This record gives sequence, C-alpha cells and structure tokens, in this order.
Amino acid sequence: MSDITICGPKRGDKGPLFEDAMKIRIPVFVEEQHVPTENERDSDDLRSLHWVAYEGATPVGTIRIVPPHEHRGYFKLGRLAALKEYRGRGVGRLLVEAAVEYARANPVEMGPIGSAGGVADGDWDGRCLVHAQTAVKGWWAGRGFVLDEGLGEWDEEGIMHVGMWMKIVENVPPTLQGKA
Ligand SMILES: CC(C)(COP(=O)(O)OP(=O)(O)OC[C@H]1O[C@@H](n2cnc3c(N)ncnc32)[C@H](O)[C@@H]1OP(=O)(O)O)[C@@H](O)C(=O)NCCC(=O)NCCS
Repeated sequence: MSDITICGPKRGDKGPLFEDAMKIRIPVFVEEQHVPTENERDSDDLRSLHWVAYEGATPVGTIRIVPPHEHRGYFKLGRLAALKEYRGRGVGRLLVEAAVEYARANPVEMGPIGSAGGVADGDWDGRCLVHAQTAVKGWWAGRGFVLDEGLGEWDEEGIMHVGMWMKIVENVPPTLQGKA
C-alpha cells in the first residue's frame, strides 16, 4: 500500500476535512452513481464523524459514522467512497478499519447526538449497521459485516441496498452508554 494517510474524525458539516470529504462524495455518488446533488449532503452530516483518506495532500476517500438517533442503539457507517482511480489499493479497507477502531476505543463518543448537535437520549449498544449497496455486499462481508436477510433489499436514490451488521464492542459498560 502506498502512502495513504487517514485523517479524522471531525464532527460536523463545516471545515476543511468535511470539504475534502465532499471532494470525494460529489464525483463518486453524484457524478458516477447519479445521486441528486441535493440529496447527497444531508442533515446527518452535522452530527456525524467524518474521515478522509489522503495520498499526499490529495483527498482520495471518505467515510462517516452517523451516531445513534431516534432511540436506536446502533450507529450507521456510511458515505464510504474511494475515487475511481484509487480503488483496489486498500483505501476503503483503511477507512473502515479507522472508523471501527475509533468506535471501539471511544465508546463514549458513539453516544447519541441530537440533530442540532446536542446530546440526545439513548444508548450505543456496540453495534454498527451499514446500508450496503448490493454491488459491494461481498466487499463489506470481507470486512466482517454480516448480512441481515430480515431487512430485505431496498432502493435508495435508485441504488439497491441491503443491511449488514458488525458487533464492534461486545459489552458496552452501562456507565458509558449514552454519555457524550
Ligand atoms: C466500495 C469501495 C469504497 C471499496 O474501496 P476500495 O478502496 O476500492 O477497496 P479496497 O482496495 O480497500 O478493498 C479491500 C479488499 O476488498 C477486496 N474486494 C474488492 N472488491 C471486492 C468485492 N466486490 N467483493 C469482495 N471483496 C472485494 C479486495 O480484494 C481487498 O481485499 P484484501 O484486503 O484482502 O486485499 C469503492 O469500490 C467505491 O468507492 N465504490 C463506489 C462507492 C460505493 O459503492 N460505496 C459503497 C457504498 S455502500
């Protein structure tokens, strides 16, 4: 693997790291996958933790963690993308590893955050859900995520998705749950 550096996380939808994340998300999701621009950036960005992969000073990949909300115990990993010309070089794998390791080491920060950025009620139960594009469910399985057949398949922005889980922390101590 060449010199890929993972930076983050940074919470929120402002600042240089988030702008670099959008330099990946626009070409991949909007231009390549035809997600409408207005839907690509969403209200979850504000309360999410974002990472960006760089080769030198060039942003080449991104991922985000959307904290638990609406009283669900799990967080969502999403907006994973690597620029087309950088795929197959371990960028996606490094980004997932960075986010999972961060969650494992910082369970308090995985606590629920309200949509306005304040702390909300609820607990993180140690699980992570991915809404995986069906075309890359094998890729997520290779990262240790397990398909939830009960969730079925659904359409998001014209792209079929499945639900896949990873248990990141087996037992979140009750004293850590829900604190941030
Ligand atoms: C999905 C995506 C992020 C993967 O990123 P990437 O940097 O190309 O992936 P990596 O190079 O890290 O792949 C790592 C591993 O997955 C393996 N792999 C690649 N494609 C695979 C597939 N379709 N099924 C299973 N394994 C796959 C590689 O062989 C590699 O294995 P190794 O670690 O044992 O060597 C990238 O293809 C992408 O941006 N796609 C467009 C956006 C997208 O679909 N995002 C996902 C939304 S759910």
